[in-house]
Amino acid sequence: MEKIKSRVIELENELKRYAKEYYTLDNPSISDYDYDKLYQELKNLLNDYPQFLENDSITRTIGYDILDKFTKVDHTYPMYSLDNAFSEDDLISFNERIIKEVNKVDFVLEPKIDGLAISLTYEDGVLIQGVTRGDGLIGEDVTNNIKTIQSIPLKLKDNIDLVVRGEVYLKRSNFIRINEIQESLNKPLFANARNAAAGSLRQLDSKVAAARKLDAFFYTVANYNDLELETHYESLSFLKEQGFDVNDQIVQINDLSNIMNEIEKIHSKREINDYDIDGAVLKVNSFSIQEQLGFTAKYPKFAIAYKFPAEQVTTKLIDIVYTVGRTGQITPNALLEPVFVAGSKVSKATLHNIEYIHNKDIRINDEVIIHKAGDIIPEVVGPVLDKRDSSSKQVEMISNCPICNSELQKIEDSVDYYCLNEQCPAKAIETYIHFASRKAMNIIGLGDRIVEEFYNDGLIKGIADIYLLKDKENEIVNKEGFGQKSFENLISSIEESKKASLARLLFALGIRHLGEKSAKLIAQHFDSIDDIMDASVEQLTNIAEIGPMIAQSINQYFSLEDNRVLIQRLKDIGLEMNNEKLIIDESSQFTNKTIVLTGTLENYKRSELAKILEAKGAKISGSVSAKTDLVIYGTSAGSKLEKAEKLEIKTLSESELIEILEKENA
Ligand code: IVH
Repeated sequence: MEKIKSRVIELENELKRYAKEYYTLDNPSISDYDYDKLYQELKNLLNDYPQFLENDSITRTIGYDILDKFTKVDHTYPMYSLDNAFSEDDLISFNERIIKEVNKVDFVLEPKIDGLAISLTYEDGVLIQGVTRGDGLIGEDVTNNIKTIQSIPLKLKDNIDLVVRGEVYLKRSNFIRINEIQESLNKPLFANARNAAAGSLRQLDSKVAAARKLDAFFYTVANYNDLELETHYESLSFLKEQGFDVNDQIVQINDLSNIMNEIEKIHSKREINDYDIDGAVLKVNSFSIQEQLGFTAKYPKFAIAYKFPAEQVTTKLIDIVYTVGRTGQITPNALLEPVFVAGSKVSKATLHNIEYIHNKDIRINDEVIIHKAGDIIPEVVGPVLDKRDSSSKQVEMISNCPICNSELQKIEDSVDYYCLNEQCPAKAIETYIHFASRKAMNIIGLGDRIVEEFYNDGLIKGIADIYLLKDKENEIVNKEGFGQKSFENLISSIEESKKASLARLLFALGIRHLGEKSAKLIAQHFDSIDDIMDASVEQLTNIAEIGPMIAQSINQYFSLEDNRVLIQRLKDIGLEMNNEKLIIDESSQFTNKTIVLTGTLENYKRSELAKILEAKGAKISGSVSAKTDLVIYGTSAGSKLEKAEKLEIKTLSESELIEILEKENA
């Protein structure tokens, strides 16, 4: 039972993080397919063990936070998401659930466009407003950007009121063009067309959105009743007549006997289309039956999305090259005969490490299967053994660093080899690239290529040299492809980065194991960089979520004189290292108390309450022990509350807590 519970918690946390990456940051780190599978696993577990369903479970929310740079708008008709199917059996169960409630039904099958949903409102035939899906109930007003999309009619054929839904997307050909532009401006590349479309639609400057040349397909009339439409298929013809783009692969289906063939027809066009699709959507055709079936909290019961597995292609592995990371880690990469996979051309793919190559028996000259892990990073999945011939060559690990030639070391208990030469140029270059990167100091114009060039020309020999580039105007403006304007932009971005927060700087230093989130947490708990430099491992591990590995790594980093000198230099240069420290109200009765939260809370998400208490100087812990000062419980609290009572630890119900908080905050 404990095992199931911890898996539920693990899935909730993982999925929330992925959902935020996808919905709020437009920067997902796993593929939609893998996300959906994890989501399904969680849903099944919660079905079987409803006692683990918390109020703030991801399965109870529709979308994710909305950024607040656009005006928020209530959707007159909620924008639902779709339940997923991964097999024919899933589709058959979907159909069975339907025919339990109604007689035989007709369906419509459509490609599932991989873009982002929007809702448009027309009054008297004129486009009034365009809104993103947001959390399904409230979206962002992106009317100005919607109006730049050429294929969206500003005026309909008839003077009607209409609420129409569809998918904004970017043609693949446009996506390639936009990434070429991003690259030439040294700006971060979009991982895929969906993210580029999302980033473009949420541009505050409509000129930028217009330049991206978005497109849109439409697939739902929300106010079909007002328009006397009776079936979904009919509403699609109606949308075409009114001037909307409707996908041309949409078909009517009488029953599900041939459904997999129909889905395969859509799947087989995936490569040829100039737009990305990630599945097919099956919908009940009749609106009156749709209404009869209704909705769950999150999904319509009359529609389901069949998700395609991650796209895989095969190509030839020509050779293997090794790259050296910031920490000196050596990664083998496959050089490939270029192929098109999941929206972009790929000629290099990761092989992770030598053990991966040997376990999968991948050889040079093999035909290999490629996919994009997390829809982003091309990866070699394995060889096509049937196609192997006598030219195949086994791979042997190199023994020396491909850059500085020093002997590589295998770290104990790890499959990875490292170049331990502190002076290795590859490591230095990666360190500077990381320092300047978007989530670190965010220096625009100091991307991979420029850092490498500046390093090779001796302009950057250490992190602090970045701040001296302003004195190298002559050398820089005379470089090929580097004019006065780009020099000025670069310097102004470097100067701007001096204002970066302490958390960003800490992350930018590239301390091993220290990610962005942990850097933020640590910065919040200390007054200044000096306090962090002098912090003991114990002080660091006292911060919830900071484990010994990170703590030791920080401690070790600052034990090196060179690193302390670097910090002093950065201070002298004028880096502000400002701290966004949590302001703690130390006059609270919760100050310095170790508190455990348990059960289902009515008025807070658990994480929200934890933040409120932390701001009062409390430490939130996951388990009850003799060290616990207080247990706060909601409904259906289980073993933790029992244990607290046994240990005679003070407990408070949620309503008692609210009373105290209200008094304290009065
Ligand atoms: S219908 C009530 N049809 O998929 C049903 N959605 O996973 C609402 N999508 O939010 C959606 N192509 O952004 C529908 N042909 C299609 C679609 C489609 C893509 C997207 C849409 C929706 C998401 C749900």
